[in-house]
Amino acid sequence: MESTRLRDRPTDLDPLRLPAHVAVIMDGNGRWAKGRGQPRIFGHRRGVDILKDLLRCCKDWGIGTLTAYAFSTENWGRPIEEVDFLMLLFERVLRRELREMMLEGVKISFVGDLQALPRSLQSEIEQAMTQTKDNTAVEFVVATNYGGRQEILQACRQLAAQAQRGELDPAQINDALFEKHLYTAGTQDPDLLIRTSGEMRLSNFLLWQMAYTELYVTDTLWPDFDRAEFHQALLAYQARERRFGRVETKK
Ligand code: IPE
Ligand code: IPE
Ligand code: MG
Repeated sequence: MESTRLRDRPTDLDPLRLPAHVAVIMDGNGRWAKGRGQPRIFGHRRGVDILKDLLRCCKDWGIGTLTAYAFSTENWGRPIEEVDFLMLLFERVLRRELREMMLEGVKISFVGDLQALPRSLQSEIEQAMTQTKDNTAVEFVVATNYGGRQEILQACRQLAAQAQRGELDPAQINDALFEKHLYTAGTQDPDLLIRTSGEMRLSNFLLWQMAYTELYVTDTLWPDFDRAEFHQALLAYQARERRFGRVETKK
């Protein structure tokens, strides 16, 4: 693959203005497979290799956190064969890659309603999170059975229960307190969201966290999203001016 030659950070990227946290909606696996006359699962398999290289790329180029949308709360609505395949794929990949994640210093964590996942997957997740918790080279967050609305609702429920017990005054609820009850507590908001395969929507991903995230949508399908594509996304990001509601900054 041409792009694997991009081991070093391209010199046209400003190392001081890289996003600290990149989030990706890995979309288009099914279309990619279909275009090759293959079943959808063929695209999911290839998608894993792409994700693995993107994570390594983040590490190589100095991007601290990568969050990947692997399975949404709405994805349960897919054919049972596809759901089962994905659950098994996540489990197998976790087991297979744990050793390498340790060698490479990856700290992996998961966000989403993990209780609803198959028990065997839950235990792989637990083991991977525990084993890698002190690694510092790169943080890898996997959104599995994740839904932004569901995440916000469960935070509301926790806070309401505290208030009901008389442990919390509702007037104390602010951004910082609310964030402590999200799955992503302790992780800074994404600076850049990349969505592949052209769809201009969030599909219930990190709704709270992406209030000021820069959005980048490419028509490239996820299984074709290589380092050269990532380079393009980062160049686009560096050309943006992030104003956060304020006025233009003087050059
Ligand atoms: C994204 O690719 C992977 C998951 C949602 C698990 P899709 O499976 O959504 O592929 P398309 O969008 O149908 O092409
Ligand atoms: C978003 O992709 C979810 C993941 C990438 C896991 P979908 O393919 O499920 O999103 P929609 O259905 O096109 O909005
Ligand atoms: Mg899709």
